[in-house]
Amino acid sequence: MLKQVEAEKSQISIIIPTYNESENIINILHSIREIIPRNISSQTIVVDDNSPDGTGKLVEDYLKNVKKIADNTIEIIHRKAKDGLGSAILKGIQQSKGDTIVVMDCDFSHPPQIIPKLIESIKKYQYDIAVASRYISGGKIQGWSLKRKLMSKFATLIAKKGLGINTKDPMSGFFAFKRSIIKELNFDAIGYKILLEILVKTKGVNIKEIPYTFQDREFGSSKVGLKTILDYYKSVWKLYRYGKPLEKQEKRSSVKFLSKAARFYTVGASGFLVNYLISLLFTNGGLDMWYLHATVLGIFASITSNFFLNKTWTFGDRDFRIKKIISQYGKFVMFSSLGALVQLGMVYFLVDGNDVSYPLALIVAVITAAFGNFVLNKKWTFNEKLLN
Ligand code: GDD
Ligand code: MN
Repeated sequence: MLKQVEAEKSQISIIIPTYNESENIINILHSIREIIPRNISSQTIVVDDNSPDGTGKLVEDYLKNVKKIADNTIEIIHRKAKDGLGSAILKGIQQSKGDTIVVMDCDFSHPPQIIPKLIESIKKYQYDIAVASRYISGGKIQGWSLKRKLMSKFATLIAKKGLGINTKDPMSGFFAFKRSIIKELNFDAIGYKILLEILVKTKGVNIKEIPYTFQDREFGSSKVGLKTILDYYKSVWKLYRYGKPLEKQEKRSSVKFLSKAARFYTVGASGFLVNYLISLLFTNGGLDMWYLHATVLGIFASITSNFFLNKTWTFGDRDFRIKKIISQYGKFVMFSSLGALVQLGMVYFLVDGNDVSYPLALIVAVITAAFGNFVLNKKWTFNEKLLN
């Protein structure tokens, strides 16, 4: 009896983002109404970004004429302009009321027949997330070019390896989840992949994948472009940093200091190699540059590679704003030159003034200069506390 009452109260929300889907939207709304099990109350939310082809208006007209069903409502959210799939979905989620949320495309690439299975996984089997999956056995893609397939596979690989995701199709745009799992989340909603963001930010939840055949759209055109791809890498980068600091924290500051110093020296050594190889490349290698010019280029290349390696690897600095990079690079070059001067001065002082042999003087001077370099860059270029 109690179960019955709960079932009546619960509701699912289906979010459908649209941009220029006038040829699909009404059909998909029909299909969804037909496919939702009668005992489930639903709310379908279309999120339209002011589609130039009038998708939004079409829905408005449809809503005026269609028979209202109290338990299967349809609503539309109009946004002013095209602002990305991820943020459209998020907008729909924020406005939804259901305890279970389903997200799907409008163009029939996501077959509505799968919706009941997604809902069942959540409601009956109590999974937290149900993903309609192209990449488990029984799943397929039809109608995509080899290039698009490879792009999808590559993006999936990056998500799995880079972000430690086990789900086979984390790129899916067709999924359902319990509202309760996203309560505490702050979304970035960059680009297309809102599911990926949910997967990264809710580790430890139960996930079910359900195979389906992705069928490329028959009407209208895909909105995936270069921006989508760039946004994807941007979002992966952001998600990659998410939660990282906690995981990687080393408590003893002396250990951190020494390991960073060791990395700094390693980078320095790699700089010699870069310097040498680049200089040779430009003098030989068919480029026949004057050897002094080649040496200057070699120095420049090694400073640059040292800078980026130290920034990302030694100090784990992920701030890639151009302004920031330029100012850090400037300081880095300045400290490197200073280091060279210190080295020169020390060698002279040791050899000439104190009768130390040249090789020994050189070693002492290089180590001292590099250490000074490390400390200065740590503090002033990468704004870290000295002991940290
Ligand atoms: N509101 C809004 N705003 N909707 C958008 C926007 C936007 O900026 N961009 C795309 N959409 C809508 C489209 O109208 C469609 O309903 C859905 O989002 C998917 O867009 P498509 O352009 O059809 O994407 P796709 O078929 O190339 O990409 C599919 O594959 C991906 C997996 O590789 C989609 O299914 C994605 O959801 C999926 O992640
Ligand atoms: Mn599509």
